[in-house]
Amino acid sequence: STMESFLRELPKCEHHVHLEGTLEPELLFKLASRNNVKLPKGYPKTVEELSYRYEHFKDLQDFLDLYYVGMSVLQKEQDFEDLAWEYLNRAHSEGLEHVECFFDPQGHTERGIGMDVVIHGFRNALTRAEKELGISTKLIMCLLKHLPVANSLQTMKDFKPYYQKGWIHGLGLDSTEIGNLPEKFTECYKYGRENYPEGSLYTSHAGEEGGPEYVEQALKYLKVSRIDHGIHSVEDPVIMKTLAERDVLLTVCPLSNKRLQVVDDVSEEPIRELLESGVPFSINSDDPAYFGGYILDNYLAVQNAFNLSVENWITIARNSVRCSVIDDSRKKDLY
Ligand code: HPA
Ligand code: ZN
Repeated sequence: STMESFLRELPKCEHHVHLEGTLEPELLFKLASRNNVKLPKGYPKTVEELSYRYEHFKDLQDFLDLYYVGMSVLQKEQDFEDLAWEYLNRAHSEGLEHVECFFDPQGHTERGIGMDVVIHGFRNALTRAEKELGISTKLIMCLLKHLPVANSLQTMKDFKPYYQKGWIHGLGLDSTEIGNLPEKFTECYKYGRENYPEGSLYTSHAGEEGGPEYVEQALKYLKVSRIDHGIHSVEDPVIMKTLAERDVLLTVCPLSNKRLQVVDDVSEEPIRELLESGVPFSINSDDPAYFGGYILDNYLAVQNAFNLSVENWITIARNSVRCSVIDDSRKKDLY
């Protein structure tokens, strides 16, 4: 249809994609065999079995348990490069022009992988994509909410040199939401503001499975300028007003929410409420290999559910560019 080709050709920015969540079953098994990694007992044995498993997540934790095992096949610099490069190529073929991607350093350092291995691998792919595909890229490090705060604080200190080199551009917070309130990480964000370069982005996952109080805490204690997911904000009009006034971008992930049973159907996403209240949001894939779709599939799922107008899409695309961490000349290129 014309709307589909319009969305395909629309220059897109992605603000919520975990590089470890772009690990397709094919590459996962290829790397397991290349690195002699023995997957645990009970783990799916074939691409088909694993793909089937991805279609039946009970909730966020059920996904996370599989996601952390999956990343154990990532061992060498080349593995991290291959992973990111496959994602960047695929997303570029769907109109991706700018990406601010997450990675989970503790998911690798906790199992003995060197920091340089992870960063150099990802950087090789990102710089290659900038040169060969013309995509602009930023890298955002996420802290894992389920680990002790002391571990996260140490990780922040360990990765400071990469921020100083300009190789990492922001801080985020992901993993298990329920029971891990943002306030717990106040100290980490304070450390970042005092030690990382000025202009670094501060964001946090909040309001995915958790209610609006998680979003409220991320704003209050972590002083984030962006919220990842944040869909449960619509339950609290005061928070909605704050988000609109402060121009806080919500990075919404429709297919992720569906697969993790945060919503029963994409039509339950608060797309109209966000548009009407003037809260900026972007549409993203989160963990595309696990959730059945890359960026364009997420745009199309929203269009199928809401039948938005071209004017609505222009608002979405404009906010997505405006709230990206890129300079004004690049913004002009994209919009
Ligand atoms: N939520 C929390 N943690 C995550 C996610 C998510 O959607 N994806 C990868 N880690
Ligand atoms: Zn996420």
